[in-house]
Amino acid sequence: MSGTRKLHIKSYGCQMNVYDSQRMTDTMARAGFVATPTAEDADLVVLNTCHIREKAAEKVYSELGRIRKLKDGAARDGRRMIIAVAGCVAQAEGEEIIRRAPIVDLVLGPQNYHRLPDLLARAEHGIKVVDTEFPLEDKFDHLAPASRAATRARGVSAFVTVQEGCDKFCTFCVVPYTRGAEVSRPVGKIIEEVERLADAGVREITLIGQNVNAYHGEGPGGAWSLARLLHRLAQIPGLARLRYATSHPRDMAADLIAAHRDLAALMPQLHLPVQSGSDRILAVMNRRHTRSDYLDVIARLKDARPDMAFTSDFIVGSPGETEDDFAATLAIVGEVGYAGAFSFKYSPRPGTPAAERPDQIDDAVKIERLARVQAEIDRHQAAFNQACVGRTRDVLFEKPGRLPGQLVGRSPYLQPVHVMAPTSMIGDLRAVAITRAGANSLFGELAKPAERGPAHSPSAVTVAETVLETSVEI
Ligand code: 5AD
Ligand code: SF4
Repeated sequence: MSGTRKLHIKSYGCQMNVYDSQRMTDTMARAGFVATPTAEDADLVVLNTCHIREKAAEKVYSELGRIRKLKDGAARDGRRMIIAVAGCVAQAEGEEIIRRAPIVDLVLGPQNYHRLPDLLARAEHGIKVVDTEFPLEDKFDHLAPASRAATRARGVSAFVTVQEGCDKFCTFCVVPYTRGAEVSRPVGKIIEEVERLADAGVREITLIGQNVNAYHGEGPGGAWSLARLLHRLAQIPGLARLRYATSHPRDMAADLIAAHRDLAALMPQLHLPVQSGSDRILAVMNRRHTRSDYLDVIARLKDARPDMAFTSDFIVGSPGETEDDFAATLAIVGEVGYAGAFSFKYSPRPGTPAAERPDQIDDAVKIERLARVQAEIDRHQAAFNQACVGRTRDVLFEKPGRLPGQLVGRSPYLQPVHVMAPTSMIGDLRAVAITRAGANSLFGELAKPAERGPAHSPSAVTVAETVLETSVEI
């Protein structure tokens, strides 16, 4: 072992990249690397990239330009800095990255992270390495789990990948090409990982996957549904909350809807992207559901759990989108009464069917529609937050707040809640009386248990919210 070396990982995009970056950090810890928050002093810099929208690849190249200066500076000090590009841009661009940015030593796709220590050894011998194969072995069998100390440092809420890739092939989306076919991790491996996290003090788990509710991992007796997995995980001591993201409306199976009724630990908030409110556009997108199919799923979930709140993703300016199509999207925002949503301008992704269409929409139109849909979403989100004032919410305290003596936690709907409370309460689930709503967060006071209203009463929540800077984007 050549002593401690430093690793800096910069993660872009979705929560799965954050999770992958953590697993790479854990794996490299075994090889003697410690994480450093700055690229300047790192021996290994990894850019974990995203390709879902915009000129993601261009952003990576401009970041590589900045890192080149750091690498040159390190070389002047007699230090070797290895640069790796990982993630979906790596998968999509492959060796083109090394052609355009010769400072890159190593390019690895999302299915190859377990090979990082070996690939690094080759790169250190001056070999340029590109690994974007979809290997037969399961990377999760080889990636190291987090140490107890690393888990504690990452906080009381953790993500666990249970499913990766997607077979839906929405015509705008690059995920089926960059993350590959849909694969579910085996039940036993997930239980083991969640037990380990809970044992280290994690209180909330979000199961993540590009199409998480299509989960069908092998377990005792055959393939398990996501609902069955959630029922099993809810039995793990110490866990207070379960969530999952991101779901496809087609895969909201009856047992999963029933789990929202039957499992107290399963939070009453669901990220269920609809993308568009227009049936014509939904068909062009190959979403395989109509507006009314979607609204029916929402109604069934609300039947199962009346205090359920929803968030969504929207794309505006898809090829061929007319003003009428867009009006249908605006209308569904109000019809569902979303607690929050992400909205995006359609961005042509090389290699996807929608990018080839001749009826692309002008950027000026996209910009204007994006502003309108965002205003409508914001209006509903503000109303949702405001409706929490005067009510009591369970809050899971996560970390110190900005003010001395203050903690920040999350409501069941993912809203950050700021409360004066001692740091010893980090990790506790407490009843909080909500006194004020800000733009993206709530403020409240610790409530005495006697002040709590009935759990899950429909009147307790006509609102939802979500705090989009931290909600899960897959
Ligand atoms: N253009 C714009 N938004 C996109 N998304 C996926 N692909 C594109 C694209 N080509 C959005 C979808 C998805 C979210 C993660 O990103 O809304 O749900
Ligand atoms: Fe799959 Fe979601 Fe992309 Fe559709 S938008 S192809 S469901 S990852």
